[in-house]
Amino acid sequence: MDMDKLVSLCKRRGFLFQSSEIYGGLNGFWDYGPLGVELKRNVKEAWWQDMVRGHDDLATLSGAPEPYEMTGLDCTIIMHPQVWKCSGHYDLFHDYMVDCRESKKRYRLDQVRGRWLEAKGQRIFVATQQGGEEGEAETQQRALKFFNLRGKDVDQLKWDGPLVLLTAVPEFSRVLGPDAKELGTLTPPREFNLMFKTYVGALSGEEGAAFLRPETAQGIFVNFKNVLDSSRVRVPFGIAQMGKSFRNEITPRNFTFRSREFEQMEIEFFCHPKSSPEWYKFWRDRRYAWYLSLGLEGERLRLRDHDQDELSHYSCGTADIEYAFPFLPPGEFGELEGIAHRGDFDLRSHMEGKLVRQGNELVVELDAEGKPRHRGSGKDLSYRDDLTNERFVPHVIEPSAGADRATLAFLCQAYTEDEAPDENGKMQQRVVMKFHPRIAPVKAAVFPLVKKDGMPEVAQRIYRDLKKSFNVFYDEKGAVGRRYRRQDEAGTPYCITVDGQTLVDQTVTVRDRDSLKQWRIKADDTVAEISRLIAGGELAT
Ligand code: GAP
Repeated sequence: MDMDKLVSLCKRRGFLFQSSEIYGGLNGFWDYGPLGVELKRNVKEAWWQDMVRGHDDLATLSGAPEPYEMTGLDCTIIMHPQVWKCSGHYDLFHDYMVDCRESKKRYRLDQVRGRWLEAKGQRIFVATQQGGEEGEAETQQRALKFFNLRGKDVDQLKWDGPLVLLTAVPEFSRVLGPDAKELGTLTPPREFNLMFKTYVGALSGEEGAAFLRPETAQGIFVNFKNVLDSSRVRVPFGIAQMGKSFRNEITPRNFTFRSREFEQMEIEFFCHPKSSPEWYKFWRDRRYAWYLSLGLEGERLRLRDHDQDELSHYSCGTADIEYAFPFLPPGEFGELEGIAHRGDFDLRSHMEGKLVRQGNELVVELDAEGKPRHRGSGKDLSYRDDLTNERFVPHVIEPSAGADRATLAFLCQAYTEDEAPDENGKMQQRVVMKFHPRIAPVKAAVFPLVKKDGMPEVAQRIYRDLKKSFNVFYDEKGAVGRRYRRQDEAGTPYCITVDGQTLVDQTVTVRDRDSLKQWRIKADDTVAEISRLIAGGELAT
């Protein structure tokens, strides 16, 4: 699939716009348009319904060791600064960046790759931000330019190995930066904290400094005791939260994939340390199945267990759910969600202070004077099982998803070019967004075939009936074929047409977006039929 086509459809049909576009846009920030807001809201609602509201606290789900409870929270974006000191974000939430003295551009170290080559007696490393074949083509082009060679002289470039990350290059004096014309213009890597800083109240100095949350998770941990004390949940249980998070990404890119303001859908699942490996496996599989259930394709979706050396400082096991986004080189996948076994790291950090690993132990980090480097709340965040009387600090399994990344994956998956007959039965190319009906922004469109003979009145009645339950669109302008085509691009799964026969026998046609099948139903049954179809019912033949 061509990503440029999707990006232009998103703008043309009102899924996504660049933020502040009339002022030239702001890099890393995106607005959802009229169709996009419905799509993203449906993704979030499907998650909340499937994980929280619709969860059966009494049943043992397949793969779960026992029944569990689910509840939710909605916490503030700005929290006490100590939260981020104890969570580790203040000290550790950074990326390495390199600056280019020549182009004045800034890059994330782990997003720059390149290839070594020799030509005209000189050995250099040509850097690029592209991977795969695109990266190879770009480095070749730039190497020819650097050595003042023409395309026909390409044999003079003696490449030494494939594209490798810039992290593998110890120093940069022989490096041709991604946008540079001269060698050695990249600065040594520097740390860059990704949290956005702000100031609370009238205090403008460090006393008033605070951060926009870089994840929703910490709001859950610091409210763990409040939830325990105010509801009747017992371990094992999960707390879910969705909302905005902010990261000052060095190089936001790939449409909404890496933004500076985005939404997360996170669950912190609290369980007994002994059963935590089983719960980890349960959540891994359950979250993977969720994406499949909403239409992501098995071949483009994968569950990848992290290697031991990839695990975060707190994690005993992590898996990523990844999708083969079309903007990535073939064979590469991008993260949609991480499922992490976090042990008791978070609750203990908020009790005792910032923890660090010492051998196999997590211990409070001390400063030069032997005092905790970042003091915890001092509150007891352990749990007492009232049946066994056992007291323990629960272990946490964290399925942490991005609402914008999931929405982007559903957009990529939905984009399809195929053929459909026009009014005269002639096959024509069409663009169709094949969203799962549950997340489709508009569930049904209602058309009177013509704007006369009482057809609009019947169509408007059906539209109003459907509106009570669904997001529905009414359209009476232009040829009906063109109206179908517009709905195909919006991803509307069903179109209902009122025609001459409706006036005779009170039936209407229903058209299925994907199969293009059409069938007649009683006009009075439209709400029931659309409800049945959206719930996953079979199409009539
Ligand atoms: N609490 C754990 C945590 O935040 P993460 O892997 O940093 O883990 C979780 O983020 C999810 O949030 C990611 O899998 C991704 O879907 C989403 N996400 C993270 N950074 C993002 C960004 N800059 N733009 C869009 N989504 C992002």
